Amino acid sequence: MSVDQQTLTREVERRRTFAIISHPDAGKTTLTEKLLLYGGAIHLAGSVKARRASRHATSDWMAIEKERGISVATSVMQFEHDGCRFNLLDTPGHNDFSEDTYRTLAAADCAVMLIDVAKGVEPQTIKLFKVCRFRGIPIVTFVNKMDREGKAPLELLDEVEQVLGIPCAPLTWPVGMGKSFQGVYQRESKRFLRFEREERGKRAAMEVVSLDEPALEEAIGTGSLKHLKDEIALLDDAGNRFTEDAFLKGEVTPVFFGSAMNNFGVEPFLDRFVSLCPPPHARKVDGAELDPRSPTFSGFVFKIQANMDPRHRDRIAFLRICSGRFEKGMEVKQLRTGKKLSLDRPMMFLAQERTTVEEAWSGDILGLWDPGNLRIGDTLAEKDMPSFEGIPSFSPEHFVRVRLGDPLKRKQLQKGLSQLADEGAVQLLKERDELFVDPVLGAVGWLQVEVVQHRLKAEYGVEAKLDRLPYTQARWVFATDGSPVDVAALTKAASIECFLDVEGRPLFLFENDWMRRRFEEKHPDLLFVAAVQPGRAKA
Ligand code: G4P
Repeated sequence: MSVDQQTLTREVERRRTFAIISHPDAGKTTLTEKLLLYGGAIHLAGSVKARRASRHATSDWMAIEKERGISVATSVMQFEHDGCRFNLLDTPGHNDFSEDTYRTLAAADCAVMLIDVAKGVEPQTIKLFKVCRFRGIPIVTFVNKMDREGKAPLELLDEVEQVLGIPCAPLTWPVGMGKSFQGVYQRESKRFLRFEREERGKRAAMEVVSLDEPALEEAIGTGSLKHLKDEIALLDDAGNRFTEDAFLKGEVTPVFFGSAMNNFGVEPFLDRFVSLCPPPHARKVDGAELDPRSPTFSGFVFKIQANMDPRHRDRIAFLRICSGRFEKGMEVKQLRTGKKLSLDRPMMFLAQERTTVEEAWSGDILGLWDPGNLRIGDTLAEKDMPSFEGIPSFSPEHFVRVRLGDPLKRKQLQKGLSQLADEGAVQLLKERDELFVDPVLGAVGWLQVEVVQHRLKAEYGVEAKLDRLPYTQARWVFATDGSPVDVAALTKAASIECFLDVEGRPLFLFENDWMRRRFEEKHPDLLFVAAVQPGRAKA
């Protein structure tokens, strides 16, 4: 397909694909909603659903999320702002879904790290931050809930620097907090934005004044103004310098302060974020770099979700476009199998709304209706090329044998488990000798197992009982020279359990860390790996 290079470059340059990372309860759902509001995607944030339901913003899909008040699924939302097209990838905050989040971050070009001013850096923040770092994703920080009492801003930034090891460069600076929160000073434009409490859900009124205007002193008081001036002088003098280059390299994080719930600081954040968040960058394929502006269409599947809409009983694969232009109905190749697929029903998402897409560009996320062909990590491309890297499966830490209440439901169970395993929620493991009919599942987090049990019932009508197996660790085992591993001999000698993953690779299970280490030490000739790439014989 011929693509006008100028149009392609223009469209790619205006794409912004990012994710928000945070510990649960920091306000991710609230911020998402407000960003969509400013992007014009929702007209009145908070009015999307009734007050109680708005605890679960428009991106939460599944019943279990509502019951538990956690965000399980990763969804994608799009909005426009200031001439740019944003793709916001929602990530589950719960620890047990970090694998899902990890895959989602593979599709993001930038991350917003949301921190609760009272709680500071929390465990899940640390985990997700590390993933972003590992992937080289630049991070913008938003300190939320300034309308509540919390840590002093300087102390908080020090905590971020100490715990996460990234220098902070505040681009806005708050005056007061909690009841005495007065607003934020924008260091780049040297303007002060005043905070005025408004009715919940409405845009906060903002007055913009310069530091030297007498009206400011009158409004925030002589003491607060002096304090602000002192802190700004300190930051100008001794603070970290912000440069775009250092930010893109992940060497500094620009910091904003605000209150998502009160809509305060969100708009100036978004206005600046447009220029901070980089457009799609080159992706690694087989050691080389693929330019997002190259005309041939390509992308990779980073998430699969079955029954996203229970009324439709469908399965959607999420594809991150990495180069070229997508056109509805176009024929692409699935590189893993060599199969040709016609992408007739591409979708984009606005929370629960789906719209059919006529065209999309590098950086965009497409939802593809999938009858069961696609897998996480699959590369789809217009022409033959090497596959994209970077969506590994992690070794599970929880194992269960699934028993059926009603043996007549075995077919539904198989279907359900194979679909849910394709989604990457759990790993379906096969016994080598196939003595047992009851399947075994492995998961990185226990909650994933519970979600699968819940979804088997809700979506497939299968009542499944779970028998927990005593293992806590697993490793894929490969021979260093690439030859097949003699699994039978190894398991017999050490009375160790080994299952096969969906690709037939041996996964050894251990009851504890000590047993794993002992086994590894006994076999220096073997390679023990905790994460594997799909479609590869090796790690
Ligand atoms: P999450 O997705 O990161 O888990 O957080 P979520 O947005 O659901 O927010 C968690 C709680 O924090 C919610 O309160 C939300 O209203 C509140 N919150 C979010 N932003 C701010 C803020 O800027 N200031 C203050 N004071 N609170 C904020 P909740 O009581 O759990 O739910 P709800 O009754 O408000 O719906």
